[in-house]
Amino acid sequence: SLPVDQVSKRVLLAAPRGYCAGVDRAVVTVEKALDLYGPPIYVRKEIVHNKHVVRTLEKRGAIFVDQTDEVPEGATVIFSAHGVSPAVHREAAALQLKTIDATCPLVTKVHREAVRFASDDYDILLIGHEGHEEVEGTAGEAPDHIVLVQNPDEVDQVEVRDPDKVVWLSQTTLSVDETMETVRRLREKFPKLQDPPSDDICYATQNRQVAVKQMAAECDLMIVVGSQNSSNSVRLVEVALDHGARAGHLVDYADEIDEAWLDGVSTVGVTSGASVPELLVRDVLQWLADRGFEDVKAITAAEESLMFSLPNEIRRDLKARD
Ligand code: F3S
Repeated sequence: SLPVDQVSKRVLLAAPRGYCAGVDRAVVTVEKALDLYGPPIYVRKEIVHNKHVVRTLEKRGAIFVDQTDEVPEGATVIFSAHGVSPAVHREAAALQLKTIDATCPLVTKVHREAVRFASDDYDILLIGHEGHEEVEGTAGEAPDHIVLVQNPDEVDQVEVRDPDKVVWLSQTTLSVDETMETVRRLREKFPKLQDPPSDDICYATQNRQVAVKQMAAECDLMIVVGSQNSSNSVRLVEVALDHGARAGHLVDYADEIDEAWLDGVSTVGVTSGASVPELLVRDVLQWLADRGFEDVKAITAAEESLMFSLPNEIRRDLKARD
């Protein structure tokens, strides 16, 4: 028999992975703002939930702040891809900030749904994670109408004013399967529950999960590149483990991989969250190749071609410059 170190070693590389259209647009927005107006450019919250992206933009002169009132009066501030509540827009106006809104259009879509159902006086069951910036933004559109439901187990405690007038909406980056389970239980409790007009979990979240599901059962180890505070990245590890991967880890950088994870491993799955630059995946593939995992096979679940145009303010100022 072959010595252990000659057992066939291979990598399954998920596609799609990495940047979605909303992240690409948000990151390019900060880069263009730095080019157009010069540093410093203030960004409220992390533009996208990725450590490397934030560090790189900081080096170029972006200043990330947690609260709007940390931005000096009259300065330029960019709102992150996760979106902001109307209260944040008001704070910025009061400080006379020049604002550039990099909210993903697919998040804005959910905001509009919340506004519409609230104006029709529905109770809105918002499935999402408490404290996540996207949830704060969406909930802020209709604070008096929104009830947060974090997972299937919370359904029992949900109370509404009129069980005949309820709709569910969700955060864009959840586990599709867990969300469907939450909805199933909500519908048991509220048979008249209305669905959102279209999927709130975005195409990118869905596609990355589908790819992971296709390969998970073959993987002794799944490495997901992404940051701890990235909702969609954390979900990819959970989905991998739920679908048969024997181990799964989230890493920001290749040097966080522990050699011990490779003990007895012949197939490693690799993917990355929607906020992750491809160069970080390349580093992980190189790290694996250096340890004998040179054979890389792509597992393609979908083709993506969606692109969003940049925020109006940036487009206008780019045009004026050229
Ligand atoms: Fe938008 Fe989905 Fe990306 S909501 S920012 S396209 S993960």
